[in-house]
Amino acid sequence: MIQTAAIVPGSERPAGDGSTGAARCAIILPDGSRRAAVVKRGPIGQIAAEAFAALLLRAWGLPVPQPFLVEEDPHPAFASADDGYPSLKQRLGLHGLPPGEQRSRAEWVACRIAVGLRTAPLAAAADEAIANHDRNLGNILWDGASEAWIDHAYALGQGSLPDANKLCDMARAVQASEQLLRSAVAQALALNRDAVELAAQEVPTHLGAHSLATMVSQRIANVANALISRFPTPDDLFSGP
Ligand SMILES: Nc1ncnc2c1ncn2[C@@H]1O[C@H](COP(=O)(O)OP(=O)(O)O)[C@@H](O)[C@H]1O
Ligand SMILES: [Mg+2]
Repeated sequence: MIQTAAIVPGSERPAGDGSTGAARCAIILPDGSRRAAVVKRGPIGQIAAEAFAALLLRAWGLPVPQPFLVEEDPHPAFASADDGYPSLKQRLGLHGLPPGEQRSRAEWVACRIAVGLRTAPLAAAADEAIANHDRNLGNILWDGASEAWIDHAYALGQGSLPDANKLCDMARAVQASEQLLRSAVAQALALNRDAVELAAQEVPTHLGAHSLATMVSQRIANVANALISRFPTPDDLFSGP
């Protein structure tokens, strides 16, 4: 079962570049040990999506910080172990740059780094499986060598962001489509289906993760084709006269 933690009173500080009020804090685990964490509050569906997605993506081998639930009224908050890395958006200083050529170039570099990360193909496949429409540069942590993938609040039918696989969009923008697509399709075909229900069983029943698991199970057979569809090709390449 996902661990339940308590926040050390008075330890919360704003976390940085998100939009939903994420806060850095200290948490106490059931065994009494303390960890640095980032806590997020929101609708119960988003908390469930965060917890279930973190467990599932970790089971699929993606580096996602360890998730926790924090008991609060009327429903739990979500916390994740603070990896200590900045996001790619912070690392490239994107929020400080006004729109213009310099910002566009910095975004290009950040996208190039994102799609070249070792686990980017798996992340693209996983995002397609969980319908994550929000893999922006603020949701990829990078310390210059290793990456971590965060923020699954707008996956699994939560929120109303337009349908997108942003890693695929980034790959197209930096002319790295073929490289990402080939590996992402291979990863998609290897996703372990049994991990989906197992991850849901790790989340307390009242959060409703089983319906989220059903959604992933229905999507999973189509992930490879869905990825291919993210990269439109000219009709004349494949269809004869
Ligand atoms: N586990 C974590 N480790 C390190 N930094 C984190 C972690 N979780 C969140 N952050 C930081 O907090 C910011 C906001 O968190 P995020 O989950 O993206 O929330 P939001 O929904 O507000 O975008 C992130 O962009 C990142 O800089
Ligand atoms: Mg975010």
